[in-house]
Amino acid sequence: METHQKSLVIHFLAAFLFVSSSHLLLAQSQLLPIINDQVANATQMHTYIVHVEKPKGTKFLHFRDRVNWYTSFLPNNTLDSGEPRMLYAYRRVISGFAARLTPEEVEAMEAMDGFLLAHPENEYVLKTTYTPKMLGLNQWGGLWYPSTLGQGRVIGMIDSGIDPTHPSFQDDGMPPPPNYWSGNCYWGPPLCNNKLVGAAAFKYGRTTNPQDDDGHGTHVAGTAAGNFVNDAHVLGNANGTASGMAPRAHLAIYKVLHDFQGKTSGFDSDILKGIDQAIRDDVDILSMSLGSSRVPDYQNGVAKASFAAMTRGIVPCAAAANDGPFKSIMANDAPWILTVGASTVSRRIQAIVRLGNGMELLGESAYQPESFESKQLPLVYPCDLRTADACGCNVSMANLDVQDKIVLCWKTIIDVHQKASIIRNAGGAAMIVMNVWDQGETTGAETPGLPASNLPLSAAKQLVKYFRSTANATATIIFNGTQFGARPTPAVASFSSRGPSLRNGGIIKPDIIAPGGNILAAWPWEVGPNPTGTSKTFDFLSGTSMATPHVSGVVALLKNTHPNWSPAAIKSALMTTARRFDNTGNLIADQFNDTAASVFAMGSGHINPVAANDPGLIYDLHYYDYVHYLCGLGYTDRQVSAIVRGRVYCSQVHQIRPEDLNYPSIMVHLGTSPSATTAVNRTVTNVGDADTVYTIEVEEPEGVRVDVTPATLQFSQVDEKQSFDLTFSHKGSQQWSAGEVVEGQLKWVSGKYLVRSPIAVTFL
Ligand SMILES: *[C@@H]1O[C@H](CO)[C@@H](O)[C@H](O)[C@H]1NC(C)=O
Ligand SMILES: *[C@@H]1O[C@H](CO)[C@@H](O)[C@H](O)[C@H]1NC(C)=O
Ligand SMILES: *[C@@H]1O[C@H](CO)[C@@H](O)[C@H](O)[C@H]1NC(C)=O
Ligand SMILES: *[C@@H]1O[C@H](CO)[C@@H](O)[C@H](O)[C@H]1NC(C)=O
Ligand SMILES: *[C@@H]1O[C@H](CO)[C@@H](O)[C@H](O)[C@H]1NC(C)=O
Ligand SMILES: *[C@@H]1O[C@H](CO)[C@@H](O)[C@H](O)[C@H]1NC(C)=O
Ligand SMILES: *[C@@H]1O[C@H](CO)[C@@H](O)[C@H](O)[C@H]1NC(C)=O
Ligand SMILES: *[C@@H]1O[C@H](CO)[C@@H](O)[C@H](O)[C@H]1NC(C)=O
Repeated sequence: METHQKSLVIHFLAAFLFVSSSHLLLAQSQLLPIINDQVANATQMHTYIVHVEKPKGTKFLHFRDRVNWYTSFLPNNTLDSGEPRMLYAYRRVISGFAARLTPEEVEAMEAMDGFLLAHPENEYVLKTTYTPKMLGLNQWGGLWYPSTLGQGRVIGMIDSGIDPTHPSFQDDGMPPPPNYWSGNCYWGPPLCNNKLVGAAAFKYGRTTNPQDDDGHGTHVAGTAAGNFVNDAHVLGNANGTASGMAPRAHLAIYKVLHDFQGKTSGFDSDILKGIDQAIRDDVDILSMSLGSSRVPDYQNGVAKASFAAMTRGIVPCAAAANDGPFKSIMANDAPWILTVGASTVSRRIQAIVRLGNGMELLGESAYQPESFESKQLPLVYPCDLRTADACGCNVSMANLDVQDKIVLCWKTIIDVHQKASIIRNAGGAAMIVMNVWDQGETTGAETPGLPASNLPLSAAKQLVKYFRSTANATATIIFNGTQFGARPTPAVASFSSRGPSLRNGGIIKPDIIAPGGNILAAWPWEVGPNPTGTSKTFDFLSGTSMATPHVSGVVALLKNTHPNWSPAAIKSALMTTARRFDNTGNLIADQFNDTAASVFAMGSGHINPVAANDPGLIYDLHYYDYVHYLCGLGYTDRQVSAIVRGRVYCSQVHQIRPEDLNYPSIMVHLGTSPSATTAVNRTVTNVGDADTVYTIEVEEPEGVRVDVTPATLQFSQVDEKQSFDLTFSHKGSQQWSAGEVVEGQLKWVSGKYLVRSPIAVTFL
């Protein structure tokens, strides 16, 4: 059965290349080779994203008229090599196109009427059985029932494609896609079903095969909306029924990340095209586990396309990236994006390290061979060779006598599979992979194919201390299977990117955190050393990439229970109801150093889908509010126009500070002088019970006085709006220096609702 399906895949993929190019804008490009590097190098040819502005009053009757107009900006249509210059003509994400040009040619274009701006394209990188239950979603209660498990919603996955044969994407129990759906499986309709309702892939200006050659796209799609699969496990661990967050939602796949010489990444031109197609197809949600932390919004394809999507009511969810715990390196921090950080779940695939002195250290591994006898074995510590490679076990073990011993490796330099193979080849019995300082307490359940345990930093320090304290150090690994209830949970994963954002004017990001540590979801291939030939293949992955589809799936549920909510309203509902406390009753911790997480690590807190379904109040935003904000940020007219797809003259726009955006979290800048004050205001919309009275509760940041007027909000109708002002001033005699940040909370409380916004005050 399985092999039969596989051959079908290949058949239809091959067929597509020849028969179904009719929908392609630039069909001829299919026949030509990929851009010739030599030509590109010789002439400094790059792919540019070019923004142009329609002459006033022009309406394009047909798309080809728009394409002709775009083409008129090019010096000519083809390069010497015969390749077309234009890769994509965009319609919905930006007013503009992607084309191969030299800097001189772009300069010449700048003088042309209607030219707005151009930039060379940027590169973007990647950034369950158990989590639905943990988030309070299940068949009988919670949010799955009222939201019909996301039925009728389409989640667009902007990623590395899909393995369409995986059981997570079979369509048992799935209704057909909604009437408005206009997407398709462009590479062979028989592979589409009621679960997988669309698939397209874009690379270098052409459509290609959406088959996932990385695994990432399959995993995130399964997490967002995978169907139910029984007996899902990774090498026997975490066995149970797997499903996505919205098991009855449909998936549309837009492959824009490709394997470039062993590294998976994507480029602006393809990403813009993927999202252009997703908007055309009418997705409800964009799930984007990719990004770049280096690019300003007016040059950032993800940010620009997300803006276009948001104006059409599509909710853009994107990963904050995995550059934690370092401050201010963050992707997708534009305020119109729902930015997701990663938390850990309370499940551990336990691999206990028992030392010769009896001490037990808790670590993890998803490879737990029964054949491993848990007896004390001598330890070898290559790091004593005092090179970085040796500390990471990327070193010849020939002179280290590792035979039947356990090797201690720091978790750096090379991945665990490579470490494992070096040690296995040298006759080593097992390895202990120790977190380095920036990995803190966040461990991974990996499948290295060698008995192993990944220890958190605190345990690693104890292990090394023990090793140093005795001439004859020994240890063993006890595989203890899947354990639940790890405390504290949730916690911010060490790798999750942190603010404060240096680009968005200080708006708190990420917006929320969601499960992103050791997430079990669909995987195209079997893992571990002994394949069994099953098609139900799953793997654990960690990252904000995994957190993002959790949120995308939950958004599909909320779209069903609240079809009229704007993207900003959905975001507000998720943020103001997020959890601040963990399963020990303490504030959510940061796994980097086990202290309470800052708002720049966890945003408003941990996603709480059931509460988000009934938030009481929402902080709404109209797309035009972001125009005021962008002008206020100091962007030029052209930069703002490129993002919002229409001519904007900032001098004629009411400009606001970032803190004035009606955002569900509150950030202000306050002077260090004791007399300094600052004020912001907010408007809330009543989406709870008609007659509700809210009173204010403020947890003031240290040294800061917060006055809120009015202190009571009295609503008598649903959808009624009320505004309030917040004034911040100094309290006490503390001296602050510029750049210091203090945190607090603002809460509107009724008998039934608690609407909470984190506050961050940055001294200037
Ligand atoms: C073109 O330039 C890139 C980067 O500078 C280089 O990696 C590549 O080998 C060059 N290609 C050719 C054909 O010279
Ligand atoms: C197009 O323009 C480029 C650069 O100006 C030139 O080298 C090339 O020969 C032109 N191609 C054609 C077909 O005219
Ligand atoms: C997973 O659980 C099911 C149901 O309890 C059981 O039948 C199956 O054997 C388990 N699989 C593994 C690999 O443990
Ligand atoms: C691993 O060691 C080899 C040989 O010393 C070296 O060439 C390579 O760069 C190292 N790998 C990493 C990731 O440092
Ligand atoms: C060290 O351990 C080995 C084997 O476990 C044992 O033979 C030896 O006597 C021990 N040495 C000391 C000093 O304890
Ligand atoms: C190991 O597993 C057993 C049985 O599931 C459990 O009771 C015990 O607490 C686990 N050990 C540790 C150290 O968590
Ligand atoms: C823990 O890390 C956070 C984020 O880097 C930092 O703000 C905080 O001061 C640290 N706490 C301690 C006790 O080191
Ligand atoms: C809100 O605050 C801004 C900036 O302080 C001010 O311009 C605006 O008038 C205020 N709006 C309301 C409704 O109070």
